[in-house]
Amino acid sequence: MVSRTIPVEPFDLVIFGGTGDLARRKILPALFRRYCSGQVDPASRVIGAARTEMDDAAYREFARAAIAEFDDHDGCDMGRIDDFLGQLHYLTVDARGDAGWEALAELVKSDHVRAFYFSVGPGLFGDLAERLQRYGMAEADTRIVVEKPFGRDLESARRLNRDLARHFDETQIYRIDHYLGKETVQNLMAVRFGNMLFEPLWNSQYVDHIQITVAESVGVGTRGGYYDKSGAMRDMVQNHMMQLLCLIAMEPPAKFNPDSVRDEKLKVIRALDPVKPENIVRGQYEGDGKRPGYRNQVENRDSTTETFVALKAHISNWRWAGTPFYLRTGKRLKERTSEIAVVFKDAPHSIFGEEAGRHRNILTIRLQPNEGIELGVTIKEPGPGGMRLVDVPLDMSFAEVLGPGDADFPDAYERLIMDVIRGNQTLFMRGDEVEAAWAWTDPIIAAWDEGREVPIPYPPGGSGPDDALMLMHRDGRRWREIRA
Ligand code: BG6
Repeated sequence: MVSRTIPVEPFDLVIFGGTGDLARRKILPALFRRYCSGQVDPASRVIGAARTEMDDAAYREFARAAIAEFDDHDGCDMGRIDDFLGQLHYLTVDARGDAGWEALAELVKSDHVRAFYFSVGPGLFGDLAERLQRYGMAEADTRIVVEKPFGRDLESARRLNRDLARHFDETQIYRIDHYLGKETVQNLMAVRFGNMLFEPLWNSQYVDHIQITVAESVGVGTRGGYYDKSGAMRDMVQNHMMQLLCLIAMEPPAKFNPDSVRDEKLKVIRALDPVKPENIVRGQYEGDGKRPGYRNQVENRDSTTETFVALKAHISNWRWAGTPFYLRTGKRLKERTSEIAVVFKDAPHSIFGEEAGRHRNILTIRLQPNEGIELGVTIKEPGPGGMRLVDVPLDMSFAEVLGPGDADFPDAYERLIMDVIRGNQTLFMRGDEVEAAWAWTDPIIAAWDEGREVPIPYPPGGSGPDDALMLMHRDGRRWREIRA
């Protein structure tokens, strides 16, 4: 199903790296789905730009194949694909040379909203920004979209921010973290700030701890080249996990507008304590008879890159002092599942006596799959035999309560690309936010490098290294089970 929405203004979207993997898997299928929903004006144009020699016709066939492979076609009338493809163009452009730039400037001369998607490695961001200006395309209302990785440490992120800032204002720069485009991630804000119920309890007085898990069942696949230079800390924690942490921990912004939201997120990152080495566990998946281990999927057979991280973080502010945040992410785990669990403290006194046992309320926000919210509450076990207590879930699956159609969540890229065209930066990272996140992760990575730390091997299909379980056990707590 494709959700229907209000059309956006006609736009010209140039995708640098238009023949790359991201364009194929995400950007082109997302645009097609928005086209199917009626959101993309027929006058809009999508212009693929890359070094490969190709003409419009070949690019349209490239896009047709990408959509056939990566779109589920649910709710899209495939009979309309030719109309959509008719809006696609292609230009051969050299990011580091002069070839193609004049033609591009000529092609995008229109009164459409103009956006340039840098779907290329960060090494080219500066070159592209500079040429957009040189060829007269960096106008006040031009938008640029940049993908992660936004640097590999604080210094490189600062450099990228400086390179972009030479030609574009911060209000023109859209840094994508696709987790922010996920419908249920936005729901975190709706749940917290749309309900009276939770906010009074949302602090260290009532919350024992918070667990954030982003587990993947897949390995690195064909992305070993990139991943081996990155690792789970840079690939997932510095960005996606950090964003989830911010949304769950931030103060209520005064308004749901870009700077109010991003100011509050930034305060969370800046309030994070440095992580002590004993509060962090690093792992790397092994192989089994069926699946290769990480070291067999990358060039360096002695790689010490981590594919799993679990850590305990503390936020030093009035709201959260004393409440730990446990974060864990890894590849080749039991299931693909992402959730945030807010574990409330025990009731101050049990009127039912010791034999009633320990019962805690847990609010779980399931981000994927089976998106929804579950609140664990304690009730009496039915039947005679005294007051025996049992924990049961008040379980709400969004798909069930919203019904078919409404619960069809657009892919993150659909939402984010349309927000670029609408000029709404709320779900994009601001430069200072990215830098603050690197400032927190840099010392962790530096300590690993200095100590030549080797990640702990863990078997595929489990919950990561046992040491990650210990991280919680020694605090008298336990991780929730990884299950979809
Ligand atoms: C990407 C990471 O940003 O997010 C990948 O580079 C990871 O390594 C992916 O697999 C996870 O995204 P999702 O949307 O599948 O949870």
